[in-house]
Amino acid sequence: MEALKLTGIVKRFGDVTVLNGLSVEIPLAGLTFIVGKSGSGKSVLCRLAVGLLKPDEGRVELLGQRVDTLPERQLVPLRARVPYLVQGPALLDWLTLEANVALAAKGLPDDGRVARALERMGLTGLKGRSPPQVGPGIRKRTAIARALVLEPTCLLLDEPTTGLDSIAAGQVNEALEAVRAAGLGAMVVSHDYAALSRLADRVVEVRQGVVGYHGDKAGLLARTQDDGRSAPPAEP
Ligand SMILES: Nc1ncnc2c1ncn2[C@@H]1O[C@H](COP(=O)(O)OP(=O)(O)O)[C@@H](O)[C@H]1O
Ligand SMILES: [Mg+2]
Repeated sequence: MEALKLTGIVKRFGDVTVLNGLSVEIPLAGLTFIVGKSGSGKSVLCRLAVGLLKPDEGRVELLGQRVDTLPERQLVPLRARVPYLVQGPALLDWLTLEANVALAAKGLPDDGRVARALERMGLTGLKGRSPPQVGPGIRKRTAIARALVLEPTCLLLDEPTTGLDSIAAGQVNEALEAVRAAGLGAMVVSHDYAALSRLADRVVEVRQGVVGYHGDKAGLLARTQDDGRSAPPAEP
């Protein structure tokens, strides 16, 4: 099954056409990196994927379900299977990391899932601290642990390392490896080419409203170098 299948997506805001007939099929397994210039529509694509935005044209299928026509009531359980992590703070500063993760588990079976999620994100020894007492990489891992308690099928992460220093980014990228090792898929919007070249199972590039590249990372990295070599000389 595909994690995400977009077919002929057109998305406009006023006069601006952000996505212009974009189609892509992203498999469930492994880590898919979504790249593209700032403003190319990566976050719009994420929001379309989970039904927070509706396309003007085209179909959106998430885990085989038509997101663009699904009623909100049915979107809720689907979003629990593919949690969407946006940039920015998501934690309550006055609670411990453990309590923050436990909040997400409210109403779910009390089957040790909080401890498992903390363990998977390497947070067991830090669970008694509060968000201000740890660095941004650990805070992001806590946000991922919150998503893991839902026992999702796949994660959708929008720029999880943007704005982080290299140590914090490394902590987040380790968490992505742990996600993959746990057999979960993830779609990750990222500019972090070091992480991409190490971790990506495939890459999707959004360019000028469509998919500019879809394939393995070696192809993208080779092409990026070609682009550099064949670029026209800069204007004097
Ligand atoms: N809710 C909105 N209303 C109007 N314009 C929007 C909205 N969301 C995104 N856009 C525009 O769509 C384009 C793509 O945005 P975005 O998906 O956030 O880019 P990025 O690839 O950097 O994540 C930008 O030009 C942005 O200004
Ligand atoms: Mg964005």
